[in-house]
Amino acid sequence: MATTSTFDNVQFFDSDLESNWSSRAKENLWMHFSRMGAYEDGGSIPIITKGEGAYIYDDRGKRYFDGISSLFTVQLGHGRQELAQAYMDQVKEIAYFPIWSYAHPRAIELAERLTALTPGDLNHVFFSSSGGEAIETAAKLIKQYFKLTGKPMKHKIISRHVAYHGTTQGALSITGIPAAKQFFEPLIAGHHKVPNTNFYRAPLNHRDSFEEFGQWAANRIEEAIIFEGPETVAAVFIEPVQNSGGCFPPPPGYLQRVREICDQYDVIMVCDETINAFGRIGEYFASTRYDIVPDIITCGKGMTSGYFPMGAMIANERLYEPFRKGTNSFLHGFTFGGHPAGAAVALANLDLFEKEKINDNVRKNEGNFLATLEKLYDLPIVGDIRGAGYFYGIEMVKDTATRETFSSEESEKLLRGFLSKALFDNGLYCRADDRGDPVIQLAPPLFCDQSHFDEIESILRTVLTEAASIIL
Ligand SMILES: Cc1ncc(COP(=O)(O)O)c(C=O)c1O
Repeated sequence: MATTSTFDNVQFFDSDLESNWSSRAKENLWMHFSRMGAYEDGGSIPIITKGEGAYIYDDRGKRYFDGISSLFTVQLGHGRQELAQAYMDQVKEIAYFPIWSYAHPRAIELAERLTALTPGDLNHVFFSSSGGEAIETAAKLIKQYFKLTGKPMKHKIISRHVAYHGTTQGALSITGIPAAKQFFEPLIAGHHKVPNTNFYRAPLNHRDSFEEFGQWAANRIEEAIIFEGPETVAAVFIEPVQNSGGCFPPPPGYLQRVREICDQYDVIMVCDETINAFGRIGEYFASTRYDIVPDIITCGKGMTSGYFPMGAMIANERLYEPFRKGTNSFLHGFTFGGHPAGAAVALANLDLFEKEKINDNVRKNEGNFLATLEKLYDLPIVGDIRGAGYFYGIEMVKDTATRETFSSEESEKLLRGFLSKALFDNGLYCRADDRGDPVIQLAPPLFCDQSHFDEIESILRTVLTEAASIIL
């Protein structure tokens, strides 16, 4: 693993392409996870002005394939009139009202709709404005729950290496990426990290069977619980398919073993589905796909296909129980949680999912998508291709036989010095990332078909062929 990964994503552009928007952005717009200095030094900021279906356009009119649904979010693509209409209809009726002691119909309807789609008895929806806020909400709920139910020592959270769970201080404490945390420490103390399900990088004695590796990885959670003391461990946070590091699916039986361990030690199982939910893995919730019933699901991003910022923490009956009676209240909330317009957009988004059979489309085509990407295995820089649904990572290596990875300097040269710009120049917007080992990630809008997969493969072939000639 490139241990000093710099985490941020930058794209370099030629200064002669500088547009007015770009120079104005440099003056006042502080971009997220971006090296602003790279733009100060003459690079130009790419300006995206328009979206249509699976494509985005820049301010010069150039078209790009949106290979990661903008940020794993625009499930139904750009320019959907139905979603705009749902927003407009709602704001005419009532644009905003909080769900603090009062309620409104759209939040109620959306809560009903979501709980009908979750597995098991996850029946209680707490809305937020983002995935990170949903994670904060889950972490705080779990703490309060154990204080109310006579186990006040339970507060520690176990999560996985390289997993990203958000940037607020609570969510960042759960995040497993040291480079993302180092400037903000000390964070919340006592949390513990365990191995993820990256089979390609499994310990050498666990590479024979995906299933056996999964049991080994799950048992590391039990080991951590015992080490920390079960009376102090409150929760395990896991993405069914981990995004950061490059799309690690769960081995068969892995999530079931995690469930078993959580039950044994009275630890709350949280599935962070910020990316996984809403069709990305071919179901409304990936937990359903993998036949697991966690105690909490957190979600965000695709709930509105990005047409409104919304997230949710959905908890089961057990966690809700202490709040059902008496004077207990969950002392937590957000001004914009359950926003009427956001809820209306989310409902319209779910209507479109049903009408257009979006989940069926993902399940029908995911094998073809993977098979198309797997053609790239003939390139000497392609080490591993993994994922599920419409969510794949391509890990690049120095040597496919030995799986040798790049040094931090090489990774920097490959990703920021070449790939980000080359992919974009060739018309593919996607993610080149080294929060673990260097990967390119693909997560196109969920209506995409073979023609889109071919377009992705063709651009990747051109760019990765050149990358190999530069770096190997
Ligand atoms: C798994 C996961 N959890 C949480 C978050 C944080 O979500 P947000 O950026 O909406 O706060 C993300 C964002 O990418 C994520 O991928």
